[in-house]
Amino acid sequence: MRVEHVTLRRRSFLAAAAAVAVAGCSSKDNSSGSPSSASTPQEGGAGGKVGIFTWWADGSEKEGLDAFVALFKKNYPNDTFENLAVAGGSGSNAKAKLAADLKNNNPPDSFQGHAGAELTDYIDADQIEPVDEIITELGGSSVFPQMLLDLITVGGHVYSIPCDIHRANMVWTNSALLKKANITEDPADVAAWLDDLAKVKKSGVNTPLTIGGTWTQTELFESILGAELGHDAYTALFAKDGNWGDAKITQAINDYKTALTFANTASDGDDWPGATDAVIAGQSAYNCMGDWALAEFTSKGKTYGKEYSAFPLQGTDKLFDFLADSFTLPVGAPNAGGCKDWLRLVGSAEGQQAFNLKKGSIPPRTDVPASAFPAYQQKTMESFKSDKIIPSIAHGAAVSLAWSSEINTAMSAFYQSKDAGKLQSALVAAHDKYAA
Ligand code: GAL
Repeated sequence: MRVEHVTLRRRSFLAAAAAVAVAGCSSKDNSSGSPSSASTPQEGGAGGKVGIFTWWADGSEKEGLDAFVALFKKNYPNDTFENLAVAGGSGSNAKAKLAADLKNNNPPDSFQGHAGAELTDYIDADQIEPVDEIITELGGSSVFPQMLLDLITVGGHVYSIPCDIHRANMVWTNSALLKKANITEDPADVAAWLDDLAKVKKSGVNTPLTIGGTWTQTELFESILGAELGHDAYTALFAKDGNWGDAKITQAINDYKTALTFANTASDGDDWPGATDAVIAGQSAYNCMGDWALAEFTSKGKTYGKEYSAFPLQGTDKLFDFLADSFTLPVGAPNAGGCKDWLRLVGSAEGQQAFNLKKGSIPPRTDVPASAFPAYQQKTMESFKSDKIIPSIAHGAAVSLAWSSEINTAMSAFYQSKDAGKLQSALVAAHDKYAA
């Protein structure tokens, strides 16, 4: 089915986030969801190879994917999972390969995409199909938060199945190094964190903060930006009249520049695990990273609250810098039946429990028991309900692929030049070019 959607209006992140009073905070059974006959699953699966494209290619991210794969094999024995993962955090390599494959009419059976602006890129390009009947079968708004459904709905049709919710504005800490620097409290805002970075440096740590390649720098910057602007001003940046020339952005850029003076030297393509591992190894005290970092600490045998901890970078507002992975049904998928089996799995309570436990994220579904998760993730679930939600720039929630790629180019140039004025002009230009 092809749907005419390009002229239909999308809901902005602001409108979606306003609806975060999630439908179904209580536990609900989805078994009453009534599948349309078109989606009636075949017992054991549709059969054939099912090629799944992600960037969860190795390390702790692959452990998450593997949890899905084990259940997929068990629940859909007729299907054969084919791993099409391309390494590189945040899809830094995968997205280019995916774009080329989609352009050449060579889609995988399903690919990973972020809920929000990034997904609408694929919809506008007619590269993915609606999956309304699957989301209904999975329980729809009785189990998925309405704000998330709004981010994957265009023209009344749902275009992907969410499998996780990650929080990007987290700073991971090495407990022993903070103790050595006499830091006993989480910083209340960015200024307090910059003071703590200086204390760690003074205590004899050469690189108090670690960064990886460009997208990790964008993520650090967006975390500082959110903390300094607060929910309303940050979210307003992505509207047509968003003012990236504001003095508060200049301040955020300057504070970001100060943070970089405490960091290691990085190259554009450096992946994130190296930056997180330096905190694990006690070479560095802080790494700002989405909570996929939790999986990295866990896979290295570390205990939250013992060898390491984490705090959200925020200021006056309590902020949850949001992103969500979801899976799609590409137009022309070689095995659409097999894709739907995969979508059923990633959207199921069973699948989301197994996957998110390994991934560090929280299940979007509200009927997965919180008690099945360790303390850190339980805390994230609480924060998702009570904090103010802002969309991630680096991970497809706030801006389109083209806009985020232009921001990354500006961040990379800034890393070399440290020219705050140039970065701000480039951010203004990117907004003016892409804000709809
Ligand atoms: C994000 C993705 C996360 C995680 C991260 C690092 O874009 O949504 O699931 O994979 O990149 O690779």
